[in-house]
Amino acid sequence: MRRIDSETVQKILDTAEILDVVSDFVSLKRRGANYIGLCPFHNERTPSFSVSPSKGICKCFSCGKGGSPVGFLMELEQMSYSDALRYLAKKYNIEIKEREMDAEERERESERESLLAVNEFAMKHFEHNLTATDEGRSVGLAYFRERGINDAMIKRFHLGYSPDSRDDLFRHAKAKGFSEKFLIATGLCYKTERGTVGDRFRGRVIYPVFSLSGKVLAFGGRTLRKDKDVAKYVNSPESVIYRKSFELYGLYQAKQSIVRNDKCILVEGYMDVISMHQSGVENVVASSGTSLTEGQIRLIHRFTENVTVIYDSDPAGIKASLRGIDLLLAEGLNIKVMLLPEGEDPDSFAQSHTSEEVERYLADNEQDFISFKTSILMKDASNDPIAKAHAIQSIVRSISVIPDPITRTVYIAECARSMAIDEKILTLQVAKYAAEAAEKRAREEQRERNRAKAGLPADPAQDAVAIPAEAVTPAPEPAAPKPVIAAEAGFLVPYERELVRYIVRYGLCYLCDVADERGDTRPMNVLEYVMEELRIDEISFSDPVFARLLDECLALAGDSWTQACEGERLRLSEVRRRRMEEGYEHIRRTAGDLASIQTREKELEEAAENEFNAALDSFAELYLQRQLLSCSSDEVRRTATALVTSRHSLSKIYTKYSHVSTERERLPELVPLAVYNLKCALIECEIARINKEIARIYSTAPSDSATLRSLMQRNLELNALKKEFAKYLGERILSPHRP
Ligand code: UTP
Ligand code: MN
Repeated sequence: MRRIDSETVQKILDTAEILDVVSDFVSLKRRGANYIGLCPFHNERTPSFSVSPSKGICKCFSCGKGGSPVGFLMELEQMSYSDALRYLAKKYNIEIKEREMDAEERERESERESLLAVNEFAMKHFEHNLTATDEGRSVGLAYFRERGINDAMIKRFHLGYSPDSRDDLFRHAKAKGFSEKFLIATGLCYKTERGTVGDRFRGRVIYPVFSLSGKVLAFGGRTLRKDKDVAKYVNSPESVIYRKSFELYGLYQAKQSIVRNDKCILVEGYMDVISMHQSGVENVVASSGTSLTEGQIRLIHRFTENVTVIYDSDPAGIKASLRGIDLLLAEGLNIKVMLLPEGEDPDSFAQSHTSEEVERYLADNEQDFISFKTSILMKDASNDPIAKAHAIQSIVRSISVIPDPITRTVYIAECARSMAIDEKILTLQVAKYAAEAAEKRAREEQRERNRAKAGLPADPAQDAVAIPAEAVTPAPEPAAPKPVIAAEAGFLVPYERELVRYIVRYGLCYLCDVADERGDTRPMNVLEYVMEELRIDEISFSDPVFARLLDECLALAGDSWTQACEGERLRLSEVRRRRMEEGYEHIRRTAGDLASIQTREKELEEAAENEFNAALDSFAELYLQRQLLSCSSDEVRRTATALVTSRHSLSKIYTKYSHVSTERERLPELVPLAVYNLKCALIECEIARINKEIARIYSTAPSDSATLRSLMQRNLELNALKKEFAKYLGERILSPHRP
């Protein structure tokens, strides 16, 4: 696939109307300036999904989902960014111009495309074999029938059959012009020692593995032989298009249901996924027998925060997989587990029960993971103190990886109760593990940096566990005095968020006039003001996502904004001109005397001018957020959406009778306040650090009075600075204009 060129992207984003786009999926009713309807992201009876044509965004006030036209489509239909753009281009008849790729890009793309094309052909060939050949029907199809799989599922999962022949696929593919090179690169075929080429999958039923957008990336082939000396499954090897640890079986078929149910059910095998689907439970994916990787977990997290892991009640299997769950917890997912009745796996359970029974069982038998793990491990250890200690350690380890401190605290309290252990001891232990993990991570990062310096490639094993910084309860003592900001990052985030929110929401809006050296004044917008303030004190955001968002805003506020603004100005002048012409015409036709014509013309001109200014103003107000909400980076788009739709932005209240001042009107007071709140927070961090340092030196080297004195001096200075700030801030709030 070629890249859509950036001009076309812009055209698509400019053309797409949120009302149009949403209307294709939701039936909407007008309510004031907005439209409302039933939310497509969750089940509801009373409408809480609101569309704002003027802002170009939609949002559910109950579940919080929504966004720009592109964001809405991506979320609802689980499309990729470029698929959403293509969808919109088609809807609005915009011709897609594709950017020329350079030679290397072209080669890589063409290899990918060739592999995908080979796989697509193979999948069709296997499907054809299953239903249209004698061997396929009598062996493959008969097998699926025996397993209780219906035709709808065979179609939906594109199940197939590869005959028990040396090179059936190879011959057919060659005849269709597919090159040997790509057949081998996909792993469908392989070269034998004698130099001939053979099929990898022989005499097996075939399960294709799809990408999120429905491309065939790989295959699993199950043998139908009962003997133990052939592998039960043969799977495609890794290739340019297939990285096993970044794919999940069934996700393509499950993604919409995962979003709708806001939950992903995790099972082990191909058959488990398919049988569950057949029984009507569609939000199911399989890790395909191996333990979950971080890449797979991230993939799930794109669709939901809630994961239910289904276990068959085989105790050895459960214990083996308990550890893997820590990865899920560390990603911040809410984990539930479910035990199936003795002797059942998801496949057999789904096959032997009605859909209603399956759904009821799922609803009734979910357990919280931590309490599940506690009960399993403690049951085994009931009479063995050492086993009990191990069990507790293992449980504490699980709790320590959970990123959210509140959740951690709740679990600690709960486990203290159920295991009859002092809560304080558990808290300490959790903090210790978290600190150890953070240290380990820091060491790995250091190693990574050293490696990077030495010009060595990254270690792929680095994909392993990453504990979010938040999990570190006691912040590791910084060695050098400078990195306060890094150590206290979590503390600064709310202040940074507030500031970034003003930028995203109002970045290009007028804030105040500033005087330059020559005494000329010029208008300054919110973004310029904040940048200037950050520059003066050499502050950069500690949160990488906010930093990225700010960079994005700065980029957008450059040429792209100037051009867009010029274009909009032209368009609006044209609107004004037409409106005035019609107005003059109307006045001439209806007015009596010359005097009244003059007054009315004057009124008309004023009204048109006001309208023009208001429209230009609101264009500026919405420009940044519109662009960010349609940005191709998931991270930027999500963060911007969250900021724009946060409860603060709803503070605008107009009534017919009174006019409550809006956030926008109060910017000259709010933005400086946010800037100074951040600066004060930075000072607080520094003070806290110095106090800690003083305490440390007191206890380790009390005779080092020179250092102590200088630290205390610094402490005093900072406290004075804080007071200064408070005073300054008081003045700043009164006067929006710079001194
Ligand atoms: P299972 O043995 O539970 O397979 O392995 P299954 O899907 O339930 O198959 P049936 O019910 O016996 O037909 C679970 C998963 O582990 C992977 C496959 O992805 C399988 O779906 N697996 C298993 C392999 O990749 N290779 C193997 O040899 C075995
Ligand atoms: Mn099975």
